[in-house]
This record gives sequence, C-alpha cells and structure tokens, in this order.
Amino acid sequence: MIIKIDGKECTCESGEFLIDIAKRNDIFVPTLCSMKPVLLDRGCCRVCVVELTENSRSKIVVSCIYPVERECEVFTQSEKAVRERGMVLALLKLLAPDAKLITQMAKAYHAPELERLEPRADGGSCILCGRCVDACNLLGTSAIAAMNRGVTKEINTAFGAPATTCIGCTSCAQVCPTDAISFEETDSTRTIWNQSFELAHCEICGEILGTAASLKHAANITGDEPSSLCPKHERRNSAKSLASIYRR
Ligand code: SF4
Ligand code: FES
Repeated sequence: MIIKIDGKECTCESGEFLIDIAKRNDIFVPTLCSMKPVLLDRGCCRVCVVELTENSRSKIVVSCIYPVERECEVFTQSEKAVRERGMVLALLKLLAPDAKLITQMAKAYHAPELERLEPRADGGSCILCGRCVDACNLLGTSAIAAMNRGVTKEINTAFGAPATTCIGCTSCAQVCPTDAISFEETDSTRTIWNQSFELAHCEICGEILGTAASLKHAANITGDEPSSLCPKHERRNSAKSLASIYRR
C-alpha cells in the first residue's frame, strides 16, 4: 500500500503505525513517550499528533498508535496539526513545569500560553506517562506505581517508603522521556526512590556492574550466578576458556 506523508509517497504494510512509516521515510514527527526504543506502551503524551485525510475527511490522529489500514494522506505540519501539537505541549508544560525538554519543545512548537490555567502547584517534570511503571512491571519488580488521583497523582513507591521489591536498577529513570526520576551514585552506593543500594564492581577492572540486588535479580531470572565481571572482561575470560579447550 502507498500513502502520502507531507507530499511524499511512502510504501507501507497494512497495520503499520503511522509514525514508524514516517520515520522510515525520514519524515520527522516530534515525540515524547515513544522516543526511547523500548517495548513499552506508546500513546500517552499526544505530542506526535498529525492530520490525516481519508475519503476527503480530515481528522487528527496520534501517529505512534495509529495503525494505517487504507490509503490516506498525512500532514505533519498543517495548520490543524501544528495547532493541536501546540495545545498538547501547552498543557504538558502546566503538568510538568520543571521539565526542561517540554519547555524547549513548547517554545519550538509555538505552544500558546494558557494564562487562565495554573501550572501544577508542586512543580516537577513528570508527565504521568507511566513508562517507568511499565518498565518496572516488565522486570517483575513492580516497585513503583501511580499514587493518588487528580491533581495529586504522582509516581512513587507505596507511601513514598523504600520498596522491598526495588532493586535499584534505574530502568525507570532510563525510560523516562523527561528525566523526572533522579538518582545519586557514589563509588559504593546508588540511591533511588529513598533507598540506598550497594554497588557491585568488576573483579578485574573495578568498573561498576550495577547494584548487587539487580545482578542477583538478573541471575535469578537466567538461572546463572550473579555476574562479577564487566562485559569486556567477561568476553576475555570466555575467549581464554575457549583457547584452553583448543590447547588440550
Ligand atoms: S516519571 Fe517519567 S516515565 Fe514515569 S510517569 Fe513520569 S514522565 Fe513518565
Ligand atoms: S509519542 Fe505518540 S503519544 Fe507520545
């Protein structure tokens, strides 16, 4: 099937998400919640909205979760798409007034100032997309979740207390599009979600491998012993063992 995006003919399979077709054809669509390539739900921020015309009817669609089923024409920069994206960013800026990326995007995409609405009172950078929670659940740790409702909704551990299931792996921070989750690290400990974790180091070069708890968790899943070497020395060790087999 062939669809047109910003005047360019793009070949695609039925059911492919619009944003993936655009990306493959070097057509840029701004994104937030689908920006880091991990297997998590998309469709939470609506920054990737575009205008789609089908059978002479036009509508705004969320491109990262819109499966293309039939021929259509898409406009990423039409007046309607630009206006909708600007409004989405203006609202996200109120929700996460401290998120630098959102402030930059709001400026770049001409988001209107919504003077009658107040920014979230407790500030912060979280847009409540839920990617961190999904990442934690995928690991089987489920240490964080959305707490409270309405304007007090936030991502946290239960009652903000150290979670017994947290392994300090920072997966939540890594998938966060707005860098809303912070952690601190010294040479021996990592502190995240009000909890400190002991760090494990490569036995040979001393490189940080991760928290001891996260290595143990990974080992429990794979059935191996917790790793004690960095990838470089792990490779060297396997090469040495193979060489010794050949020498026998
Ligand atoms: S902390 Fe980050 S990943 Fe988690 S909900 Fe907030 S913005 Fe999304
Ligand atoms: S990038 Fe599509 S909804 Fe967030």
